[in-house]
Amino acid sequence: MTENHLELVQLINKRLEERNYGSEPKELYDPIRYIMSLGGKRMRPLLVLLAYKLFKDDPETVVDQALAVEVFHNFTLVHDDIMDNAPLRRGKATVHEKWDANTAILSGDVMMVKAYDMLLDAPSNLKQIVRDFNACAAGVCEGQQLDMNFETLATVDESAYINMIRLKTAVLLGFSLKLGAMLAQSSKEDAELLYDFGVSIGIGFQLKDDLLDVYGDQTKFGKQVGGDIISNKKTFLLLKALELANEDQRKQLDYWLGLETFDAVAKVEVVRAIYDAIGIEALTKAKMNEYFDHGFSDLEQLGIEEEKRTSLKRFAEYLIDREH
Ligand code: IPE
Ligand code: IPE
Ligand code: MG
Ligand code: MG
Ligand code: MG
Repeated sequence: MTENHLELVQLINKRLEERNYGSEPKELYDPIRYIMSLGGKRMRPLLVLLAYKLFKDDPETVVDQALAVEVFHNFTLVHDDIMDNAPLRRGKATVHEKWDANTAILSGDVMMVKAYDMLLDAPSNLKQIVRDFNACAAGVCEGQQLDMNFETLATVDESAYINMIRLKTAVLLGFSLKLGAMLAQSSKEDAELLYDFGVSIGIGFQLKDDLLDVYGDQTKFGKQVGGDIISNKKTFLLLKALELANEDQRKQLDYWLGLETFDAVAKVEVVRAIYDAIGIEALTKAKMNEYFDHGFSDLEQLGIEEEKRTSLKRFAEYLIDREH
């Protein structure tokens, strides 16, 4: 990230720290304070503010709306961790591990409501913003359901996978950028171009997340490495491996994917070794770069100064190289 990005992230974090989500019963609100205090990249509110700054100079006036997107994102993480049976988030215990699943469900629900509250004071375009937010939120749920449906399928094709990650992950990045544009009352064309840019880099971003889930350093990544392999997630890595495996590799994959109970460490080791033998990491990186490049060409069409375009480009490059 550049200096300018870090300054905006500081602004976001400062306003998040000042935020009061509610107090009683504390079993409902403590998990919200907990998950929101664990950090994270804060990239979605940053995208809101970066998009806003393309058109206007007073981002501090729309921080609440940017935070709405971060609270919504954290709500999806709390519920996603239940669905994925994930023990770790941002290097700490997940909410359902630290408390229990019911607590995580209900705290998540109220976070969704708080996110709406924070959107309500939007200085302009409120009706359109809520309509777009709703479309995005329904899309995320659709993507999450597909992600779970795919766990029990033998394999899925690439286009089905891309559609699933577009929904579960990319539309929220697109919405974040479009929200910034709408708050700044940009032209409709620019708002749509920013949305398309966000969706393209969002798909690249999820491909990178899938890669880190297999090849990341757990202390940096902050999530359980190997989690996707353990739960038979149809990631790009797995579907390419299923497509390209030789007979022996295919047998081993089918064996481990079919086991109901297994040694998690052994499963991750075997599947990763097959990925290594096939060269899955390079194939995934190439696919990721394809989507980021697509995003960069969306960006070229925006009618903005070169310096501002560069700021968004730098941020996307940071996402390509990230380790967490
Ligand atoms: C995690 O999002 C969920 C995905 C869509 C992969 P982030 O990687 O943005 O998580 P934080 O907010 O930085 O922790
Ligand atoms: C995340 O997909 C999508 C949403 C949270 C909506 P993942 O399940 O891959 O995200 P992580 O890896 O747990 O952050
Ligand atoms: Mg998930
Ligand atoms: Mg998950
Ligand atoms: Mg993941």
